[in-house]
Amino acid sequence: MKDQSRKATLCVHAGKEKSLNIEGVNTPIFTSSAIDFLDQEDVLYPRNFNTINQKVVAAKIAALETGEAGLVFGSGMAAISNSILALVKSGEHVLFQKDLYGGTYQMAMQMLPQFGISCSFAEANAEAMKSAIRPETKLIYIETPSNPLLRVTDMKVIADLAKNYGILTMIDNTFASPINQNPIKFGIDIVAHSGSKYMGGHSDLLFGAVATSHVLRKRISESGKILGSNVNATTCALIERSLKTLALRVLQQNKNAQALAEFLQQHPRVQQVYYPGLPDSPDHEIARRQMSGFGGMLSFEPALRSGADAESLIRRLKVIAPAVSLGGVETIVNMPARTSHSLLPQEERQKVGVKDILLRLSVGIEDVQDLREDLDQALQFAGVYATS
Ligand SMILES: Cc1ncc(COP(=O)(O)O)c(C=O)c1O
Repeated sequence: MKDQSRKATLCVHAGKEKSLNIEGVNTPIFTSSAIDFLDQEDVLYPRNFNTINQKVVAAKIAALETGEAGLVFGSGMAAISNSILALVKSGEHVLFQKDLYGGTYQMAMQMLPQFGISCSFAEANAEAMKSAIRPETKLIYIETPSNPLLRVTDMKVIADLAKNYGILTMIDNTFASPINQNPIKFGIDIVAHSGSKYMGGHSDLLFGAVATSHVLRKRISESGKILGSNVNATTCALIERSLKTLALRVLQQNKNAQALAEFLQQHPRVQQVYYPGLPDSPDHEIARRQMSGFGGMLSFEPALRSGADAESLIRRLKVIAPAVSLGGVETIVNMPARTSHSLLPQEERQKVGVKDILLRLSVGIEDVQDLREDLDQALQFAGVYATS
């Protein structure tokens, strides 16, 4: 946990622009998009990723991810798509892990092929990935823990494999947040985030981020300037404020999620809990090796009596709100079969283990006893629903 307490300091202080020499502890918001070009090394303009508020946020995120440099984008998908388009050309190939965020999957299936970039998918283990590598493979892309079953990919194994073939690696680190996992330490080249989740943390911001080396940052920013999906100064100031409490929030979310996973696991009206922090999770050992906290996301299958459905359980919850997205201070519940995986036919969903009754929780920072009581009363209700 030593590592995490240091991160709390980075959250508050990293990235400060000391040269400004201004009073006070906060970065002022520099709203100008028209900036003096004389006596400047660079053309300063918000689409060039080089205004003060953008740089402060990028530096804080780079520090938290142990990267040399960072970039801030207008959304998580902007961070992911800009990076891939910057690093992979027509005629080249991207190998994705099978369990992916829906937007990334859609991009791989529909958009990248239009640019002549071929995409394929493999299970997230070295053997499957190795046999899917092609001579033209340029990038291996993973996501861990995955959505919604919280499977954990061994990052070092994938990074080592890719290095043997001279292939770049990229990860979506949104679910873990930089507080729980730093993929660069395991050899991953590019770390992307949907900042709209844990980094923003209050369910009110849309942004994305990348942490990487100076060399790759330069390449991604050059194409990013053309594609143009940047963040203005006011949003950057809100992001900076959110990041100051990231460690505090995530540590509480980790604690609450662990407590809820244990509570649900022993609950008579729950069949199955998916959380890498549970000792009998199939990925617990890998998670222990590469994560410093198991995160705030968990999924479970309630044991419903016939006639009851997962929606009836959700409607009974009083503290926990039904909502898409994740990572905010409030606990929310989501039905992957109705949201992230709704485009897959039911048969396909069953194959990938996403049952219609699967519920995903993004655990917040509330008093965990209130969350336990809320889930308990809803589970009791759903259990007797058919006969009442
Ligand atoms: C794991 C993951 N990655 C990426 C994204 C895309 O982020 P954004 O909505 O900020 O574009 C999301 C959004 O839900 C996500 O859950």
